Amino acid sequence: MQKTVCSDSYGFTRYSLMLAKERVSCRFYKKSCIFAAKFRKNRKQSKFKIKMAEDVFKKIVSHCKEYGFVFPSSEIYDGLAAVYDYGQNGVELKNNIKQYWWQSMVLLHENIVGLDASIFMHPTTWKASGHVDAFNDPLIDNRDSKKRYRADNLIEDQIGKYEEKIAKEVAKAAKRFGDKFDEAQFRATNPRVLENQKKRDELHARYTEAMQGPDLAALKQIILDEGIVDPISGTKNWTDVRQFNLMFSTEMGSLSDATNKIYLRPETAQGIFVNYLNVQKTGRMKLPFGICQIGKAFRNEIVARQFVFRMREFEQMEMQFFCQPGTEMKWFEYWKKARLAWHKALGMGDENYRYHDHEKLAHYANAATDIEFHLPFGFKEVEGIHSRTDFDLSQHEKFSGRGIKYFDPERNESYVPYDVETSIGVDRMFLSVMCHSYTEETLENGETRVVLKLPEALAPVKCAVFPLDKKDGLPELAHEIVDNLKFHFNTHYGDPKDSIGKRYRRQDAVGTPFCVTVDHETPKDHKVTLRFRDTMEQERVDIDQLRSIIEDRVSITSLLKKVANEIKNY
Ligand code: GAP
Repeated sequence: MQKTVCSDSYGFTRYSLMLAKERVSCRFYKKSCIFAAKFRKNRKQSKFKIKMAEDVFKKIVSHCKEYGFVFPSSEIYDGLAAVYDYGQNGVELKNNIKQYWWQSMVLLHENIVGLDASIFMHPTTWKASGHVDAFNDPLIDNRDSKKRYRADNLIEDQIGKYEEKIAKEVAKAAKRFGDKFDEAQFRATNPRVLENQKKRDELHARYTEAMQGPDLAALKQIILDEGIVDPISGTKNWTDVRQFNLMFSTEMGSLSDATNKIYLRPETAQGIFVNYLNVQKTGRMKLPFGICQIGKAFRNEIVARQFVFRMREFEQMEMQFFCQPGTEMKWFEYWKKARLAWHKALGMGDENYRYHDHEKLAHYANAATDIEFHLPFGFKEVEGIHSRTDFDLSQHEKFSGRGIKYFDPERNESYVPYDVETSIGVDRMFLSVMCHSYTEETLENGETRVVLKLPEALAPVKCAVFPLDKKDGLPELAHEIVDNLKFHFNTHYGDPKDSIGKRYRRQDAVGTPFCVTVDHETPKDHKVTLRFRDTMEQERVDIDQLRSIIEDRVSITSLLKKVANEIKNY
């Protein structure tokens, strides 16, 4: 009897017993077959889950278009890659997110003020900030598919593959050994795990070193050595790796020459740094204090994918918190917690958030973390919190020749303040909310209900008022209710041309938390039917009660109170 170890086409190593003369089944052989079958089943299930997640994401993207949330930019000309327009419902949702963020900064913190800097800035700004020299991605082309990739992404995906192999081995063993499973011991002794861990670590070390230069030849060599193929052509016919600056540039004025070259800002942060002195002096601001801003940013992303997750034109909400040197870690911890509290107050599930602390820091930072949210394609960065030291202000001091020091009367000395930044993408926040809210429910009658369970305060429309039909003055009464409520929250009138069921479904699809129906009893008893989006429950209430029932639930103030209550002890 001869025992062999063989690999199937998925890299799964399975033990089989080759019986030399007679193919007699034995216990070990049977076990290995069952084990292999189980593994195939698990793999099928995880592929199925990925497929399901992809399908759900596709549905969310088409829902966004069908219900006026997001359209491809200039769609009548077939669109523009990685650029999107927000429709009638999308813009309301986005504005609500921005209002929630803005108010959480300027209303909840007496020492934070706002700013609205222009998109065009003096070109030296970007020299000082380091963006002209270092805001690059290493790109590589495949000659066969003619597709362009980020070399770092290709290598990171390869690292991910080794990690995935290890995770699969661990999951397999955990299932096999149940309660007796000792993961640490398994990881330290299993030959397949050790082999993949070694490959992963060696690759990671080579990659980190190559990126530090960056050494573009070394990055290409890694791609060749790892046998990384283009996912489209399947070939290894790669060009050399080149640096690609992500800033968009144009010319200012009528002359098109290098001296007029100007950039579209790749982050809003620099607009705050260059205005630090103006705000500090005119506002008589004392440290610590913050300046916040919401605005567009532009990046010529090489690989723009996942809908509004990675765009070439997007919006940021950034806040720079200036403080005494030496206190920055205290503030960094404060903002880490305060920003997570802001996210969690939306009620989208605490388990859907996690921090990702950066091991490798940018040269100017002494701490950095991301807040990640669980999207259909995994946990992804939505916000970054960075302790940027005095780097930015010092650079602007150096390049502008203007003194940007703060005189501290308590310490009786002048210094360049340190800065802790919070930076969140409006569009990524929008996507997180949409992905979390999109729900398909099977009703008792077997029909499917698509409902956006948006946090009520963020919903584009808070209340829709329907007359049951066109007769007996019901439309007039419904209009009257709208006219009273619209000053307090976004209220829409729903035309009676469709059945009431259809009108409810349409409001469910755009996430309207409350629907009000005016029926033939209303003129007599002054009561309407109030329907709740998530439960579909209906209640008969007096018209005069509508405002008080709805207002508190849909106001941004109710969210802010939750945040204020949470952060008061930080
Ligand atoms: N000022 C710091 C800064 O810009 P960043 O990590 O490059 O840091 C901050 O960007 C946030 O901006 C990210 O967490 C993300 O939410 C958003 N963001 C960055 N690039 C984006 C893109 N191409 N499309 C959409 N959002 C983006």
